[in-house]
Order: sequence, then structure tokens, then C-alpha cells
Amino acid sequence: MKTTFTAISAPARGALVFGAIDGGKLTATGAETDRKVGGALKRAIKASRFSGKKGQLLSVLQPKGVNADRIVLVGLGKPADLTALAMREIGGKLVADLLSTGDQTASIVIDPIKGAKANGSQLAANFAYGAHLRNYRFDRYRTTQKTDDKPRLKSLKIMTGAAASARTIYSAMSKVAEGVFAARDLVTEPANALYPKTLAAEARKLSKLGVRVEIFGEVKMKTLGMGALLGVGQGSACESQLIVMRWNGASSSQKPVALVGKGVTFDTGGISIKPSGGMEAMKFDMGGSAAVIGTMKALAGRKAKVNVVGVVGAVENMPSSTAQRPGDVVTSMSGQTIEVINTDAEGRLVLADALWYTQKRFKPQIMIDLATLTGAIIVSLGYEYAGVFSNDDKLVARLTAAGEAENEKVWRMPTHDNYAKSIKSEIADMKNVGGPGAGSISAAKFLERFVNDVPWAHLDIAAMVWPKEGSDICPKGASGYGVRLLDRMIADNYEGK
Ligand code: BES
Ligand code: MN
Ligand code: ZN
Repeated sequence: MKTTFTAISAPARGALVFGAIDGGKLTATGAETDRKVGGALKRAIKASRFSGKKGQLLSVLQPKGVNADRIVLVGLGKPADLTALAMREIGGKLVADLLSTGDQTASIVIDPIKGAKANGSQLAANFAYGAHLRNYRFDRYRTTQKTDDKPRLKSLKIMTGAAASARTIYSAMSKVAEGVFAARDLVTEPANALYPKTLAAEARKLSKLGVRVEIFGEVKMKTLGMGALLGVGQGSACESQLIVMRWNGASSSQKPVALVGKGVTFDTGGISIKPSGGMEAMKFDMGGSAAVIGTMKALAGRKAKVNVVGVVGAVENMPSSTAQRPGDVVTSMSGQTIEVINTDAEGRLVLADALWYTQKRFKPQIMIDLATLTGAIIVSLGYEYAGVFSNDDKLVARLTAAGEAENEKVWRMPTHDNYAKSIKSEIADMKNVGGPGAGSISAAKFLERFVNDVPWAHLDIAAMVWPKEGSDICPKGASGYGVRLLDRMIADNYEGK
């Protein structure tokens, strides 16, 4: 789907879309068009339940007096509620509808709205952004789909009095969307296609955008002493990989922002094997790494003025005769030893070495890790918020604000030291499971052992990477959660500073 911004004109064909605010009042250009079609729009509003509530849709087919095949009214809601975010959702709603009607082109008139929370160009750009995010499809493995079933929408023409500035705003957004789509693609790929080496190969492709990418195999990681990460991967036929990506968009004196991702390309649980029902979902256990790679792509795509390093620990957690056993003791890169009580608590083992390595090598100004770490976070917070665990109030405030702005929300969880008691081991420095109870917090306390003084936040995104339902700006499936959150957090606080 091609998105363009132009001045307002009468389209030759396709769908012509106008907004209507709550109460059913047409926007300026809509009212003008209504006169051209002999009042058909107002009559249609009267004859239907359409009242201009946010996201409502009403179609008038083949109206006399214009060339368009269809006029669609889309509800904008109350002007006071019309934020950038709301406009994205409205754009997404409209595109979902257009994908089902078979229209090939749609021209959307976006007039400035008095009293709205965003100006005309912001409204237009955000509408296009939401539409684009909703238009995502993962079709790679469909070979028999009839063309009749395929959406036909080819072009979206956003008509606005502020086309030039809307285009500028949207061009950065479209780069972020590329990062979101990359994350969705990576999460959706099955584990026979996406394993540590192919995940690394995908990251390598970012070098085209100016990202410096290094990839370490098991030999190199052994010399670094990454016994915790390597232990998780040792039962798999796939070689574990450490992926290091660097985007240097600021002067070399700026300490980097570090992003660290859990990249378990499939989590069977290992010898502590998971029940088979629903295990296929564990292809998404690399969702944290997808967020990191997607964010690197977004930052490089829009040439962000910031230094960011992304590190991914990529492993496959399998049971086999070479797999690690419950009770094994491994030595992490930090030198601390870990008793592996449960091989299914593998994410924290991977992150232990990835976090230590990142902070030791890059001395970042802040460090954020993202991981589908615990089922317990879903029990705590459901599918609305990711859990955030942190040693730094300011970092939490920044993440919370960015999460609200992008609707990729985070909720702070406690990290009192009493929660660390349960990961004491009889024979090693710690064990890899705590509890009973508060499973997400003991996991975070485990990670904290591999973080020194750097301001750090851990995002447990187990519920977020594959939501139960689609949303206005995301079809059902992988969400790409984290890319918009991190991109916004970085843009608002670390860029050009
Ligand atoms: N990848 C899982 C966590 C998970 C579960 C993510 C469900 C998304 C949906 C993680 O590696 C895991 O298995 N965690 C265990 C920890 C336990 C053994 C202490 C869990 O949550 O049950
Ligand atoms: Mn696991
Ligand atoms: Zn896992």
C-alpha cells in the first residue's frame, strides 16, 4: 500500500473518505461534498446509527454528483479526545474496513479540527501511520490463497491543506513502522526457519542502513566465559549466537543507550520440558530480541541522533542428550555461579551473560532489557501492561511516559531485596528459580545480579508480543511490541543531547 499526501481535490474513483465529529457533524470538505451529492450524506446519517463516534463507519455507494465509487464517513469522536494516538486508531479502523471492501484506492480528506489535541498535519500524519500499521500481513507461507480473498487496497491518498508538513512527520513514522514490521515478521517466523543463525543473519541485514553488526559464535562466547548462555543452548543442534548491533548517530563522546534482548528462538523448556499443549507459542520467545532489532532498524532508518547499542543472546532451548540437566552448576561471564534448578527458567541465564557483556564492553548511560521472561507476569498484569523492574526512578518515569504516548504501556513492579532471598542456592552463588510466588520479581532480582551501577530497566513482555486479539493498529498476531515504546523513549530523552 502506497501512502501519499496531496492537496485536497476531487478523486477520479475509489473510496472518498471524510471525517465526522461526534454528533454527526461533517468536517468542512465533507459538508461541501454533501452539497455536491444533493445532501445524500446527511440523509444517510439520519437513516443510520452513525453519530460520528470514534471509529464508526458509514458508506454511501455510487453517490450522484462525484466520481468516487463510494463515500465513507469515519467517526472522529469528540474534538477534545482527538489526540495523535486516537487518530492512529481511526486510521487503522478505516483501513481494516477498506481491506474487506475490495477498494483499490482511497482518498481521505483530513481537515483541521477545532479543539483537537493535534494540528492538521499531525492529524493527517498520524492517521496515515495508524492505517499503515494496521495494513500489515504475513503471507510468506500461504501458497493457495485465492486472489479473491486477498485485499486489493493499493494506494491511500491523504488529502490535506498541510500536505508538506504531514509528509515530513510521516516519513520518520514510516521508518519506525519498518522497525515494527521487522519485529512482527521475526516473531511470526516459525522456529524451523528462525533459529539463532538465521536471526543473526536478519540482524546482519541492518548493516545496509549503517548499523555495525558483529556476530559471535560459541567458540568466541566460550573464551568470554559465557557459561550461563552457552548452557541453555548446549542441547540444541543450532549454534548459539551473540548479536551486537551499534548505531552511532551522535558524537563518539556520547555514552550509548544499551538495549538487550532475550532471543530464545524456541523454548521447549529443555529437560524440564513444557507440556505439549500450546507449546507452538514458544516460537515467540525471541520477542525481546525482535523488539531490539526492530528498534535498531527504526533508529537507523530515521537517522536518529543518538548512540545506541543492541545486544541479543540467541539460543534454542532443547532437550537432548547434550542438554543441561536440572542441578547443573554453570559459571556466568561475571564469575558468579548458578545452580540450574529448572532448565525452563532459561531466559534469565541468557540475559545474565548478555547484560554483563553489554555493560562491561559499552559502559552505557542506561541499559534496558526486554524479555518474554515469565508466565507469572501474565498472571500479574494480564495483556494490558508489560512489567517494568528497575533500579532507577527517572528511567521508569521516562518509560512510563513513552508507553502512554505510544499505547505500549508499562507498569512498575516492586524489587525489594527481600524478594532475592528465594534465589539463594545451597551450593552455588544463586539458583535460577525463586518463589513460591512472585515469579516475575525473583526473575528480575536474578537479572539484577548481573547489573552493576548502571541505571537499568527490565521489561517482562511475555504477554505483549502475541496479544490474544488484534487492535485497531495491529492485526491479530505478533504486535511488534517495544519498538514504538523504545523509539519514543529514545527520541524524547536521549536524542541530540
Ligand atoms: N519463555 C517462558 C515464559 C513465558 C511463558 C513467556 C508463557 C510467554 C508465555 C520462560 O522461559 C519460562 O519458561 N518461564 C518459566 C519460569 C519458571 C520455570 C520459573 C515460567 O514462567 O513458567
Ligand atoms: Mn522457559
Ligand atoms: Zn523462555
